[in-house]
Amino acid sequence: MKAIVIHEPGGPEVMRWEDRALPAIDPGEVLVRHTAIGVNFIDVYQRLGRYPVASYPSSIGSEGVGVVEAVGAGVTTLKRGQRVGYAMRAPGAYAEHRVVPAAMTVPLPDDVPDEVAAILMLKGMTAEYLLHRSYAVQAGDTVLVHAAAGGTGLLLCEWAHALGARVIGTTSTSAKAALARRHGADEVILYTEEDFAVRVKALTGGRGAQVVYDGVGKATFMKSLDALTTLGHVVCFGASSGAVEPFDLGKLSAGSLTVSRPVLFHYTADRGRLEQMAARTFAAYRDGKIRPEVSRRFALKDAAKAHRLLESRQSTGAMVLIP
Ligand SMILES: NC(=O)c1ccc[n+]([C@@H]2O[C@H](COP(=O)([O-])OP(=O)(O)OC[C@H]3O[C@@H](n4cnc5c(N)ncnc54)[C@H](OP(=O)(O)O)[C@@H]3O)[C@@H](O)[C@H]2O)c1
Repeated sequence: MKAIVIHEPGGPEVMRWEDRALPAIDPGEVLVRHTAIGVNFIDVYQRLGRYPVASYPSSIGSEGVGVVEAVGAGVTTLKRGQRVGYAMRAPGAYAEHRVVPAAMTVPLPDDVPDEVAAILMLKGMTAEYLLHRSYAVQAGDTVLVHAAAGGTGLLLCEWAHALGARVIGTTSTSAKAALARRHGADEVILYTEEDFAVRVKALTGGRGAQVVYDGVGKATFMKSLDALTTLGHVVCFGASSGAVEPFDLGKLSAGSLTVSRPVLFHYTADRGRLEQMAARTFAAYRDGKIRPEVSRRFALKDAAKAHRLLESRQSTGAMVLIP
């Protein structure tokens, strides 16, 4: 099979298109032939070595969709020819085939196309747990979503809007702001030009937001605390601008504020919860609460092009690689 392989951490140029042996299937595993692969910022962290891979050479990538081609001993829940998707911390989705533990896969309903599933498995289930589990958004809440025009950001705006929240997004450009508005943001702040905390306070009569979804990290985190109302919560779920620096815990006493730093893979590690999360995410798609769309499609061998776009802040929405 062919796969994107890295022999060392580094820029997009370390991603090579190479031949690799088809992996052996251990008990409890299935061989998946990928049909669509989601592009995520976590893949950039893997490539850079910020999320270290076990050894080199390694593949990267965490969100895949495809067809089961072979089933390992002991697997009773899946059969050959079945469509499945998965999101896994272990790198390896940027490949024509992948061996995956059956317990990590989700059977795909007929009404969920492969490319849509390649958005829902990682970005969609992330939006599910962020909006329902890290902080349970209520109708009437003010919700601040950073990088609102990004892959995860658009889904958060749509779904929070469907839950009855007032959604304020932040983006770096007015074109991205217009996109976020089309996907559920009631207001958008250009956070590269304006102090977003001051603006959120102004938009909420001085009170602030109940929750901030902050996947940007270093550049936004401290101000995200300033944008909260009393008892407000920052969900710091990513670091596209760099890791959040250590901060004075006393800062939280300004409003009995709370902070969490969740990771999708801890939520999906429990099979029962994974099934609930997938079911609610598929239902949100079916009901039109979220409208996952592919913004850019690349051949898998051209994955470096997608990474360049993502890191240069020029991408919007969800990008997909096609093997
Ligand atoms: N913890 C979890 O479970 C989990 C799961 C999924 C994703 N995540 C995190 O969520 C975040 C979003 O992931 P995504 O895949 O959907 O990516 P994305 O939002 O589509 O792309 C990242 C966006 O971050 C913004 N950004 C701000 N500063 C940046 C910088 N210095 N360099 C690059 N981008 C910058 C850009 O939007 P603007 O141009 O509008 O600023 C950019 O488009 C990432 O931090 C990711 O690690 C976490």
